[in-house]
Amino acid sequence: MTINIFALSVGLSIIGLMFVFTLISGSPPTPTSPRVRRAVLALLPRRLPAGIIYELGAGWGGNAIALATAFPDRTVIGVELSPLPWLVSRLRLLFNPRKTLDFRCDNFMAQELSDAALVVCYVGHAQMTQLQPKLAAEMAPGTLVLTHTFAMPDWRPVDTVQADDIYRSPVYLYEVPYQEPNQSSGADASASHDAAAGGSSPDS
Ligand SMILES: C[S@@+](CC[C@H](N)C(=O)[O-])C[C@H]1O[C@@H](n2cnc3c(N)ncnc32)[C@H](O)[C@@H]1O
Repeated sequence: MTINIFALSVGLSIIGLMFVFTLISGSPPTPTSPRVRRAVLALLPRRLPAGIIYELGAGWGGNAIALATAFPDRTVIGVELSPLPWLVSRLRLLFNPRKTLDFRCDNFMAQELSDAALVVCYVGHAQMTQLQPKLAAEMAPGTLVLTHTFAMPDWRPVDTVQADDIYRSPVYLYEVPYQEPNQSSGADASASHDAAAGGSSPDS
């Protein structure tokens, strides 16, 4: 009886914790499906610009582990706000250590990205809207951003693909646009990016 109550309390605490962090972050820790992950990896060029690979909102760690496998010569850093998924990703690393992979429990808005070669993220539209000006301001022009399911609000992708899952989930690859020093809005960044990259519309 005591054990049952203990197990119930632990279970409810875990559910409560997940719920609270979903409210705080605005995004549940829904993992990328294997089919979408395959499309993500297929869309990435084999040769990346110089720098680190970040996964922003790394969830349970599956994407970051796949990225570390696909790019063994690159440092991969997963940043996750919610402590339980982060703990699981750390445990996965404990059981399968990788020198090039690290998981940080933090708000990705606090992560400095000037050393990024590639940012991968799967978060909702509201988080994408917050992220876009940060990525444009901090990442070097020509470095890469990959999102799936949700597009960057104003940028135009240089390449897109549809995963073969039941949702035909879209995967978007962007090049960070050149930004004038006094330019800060995503829409402005989009304009210069259009001129530089000549990419296609996210809706196409
Ligand atoms: C839809 S899940 C994706 C998980 C993983 N990237 C994947 O594709 O399998 C989005 C994750 O982003 C995290 N997240 C949302 N906002 C965040 C923030 N500001 N800082 C860090 N993590 C955040 C959420 O906690 C959630 O785990």
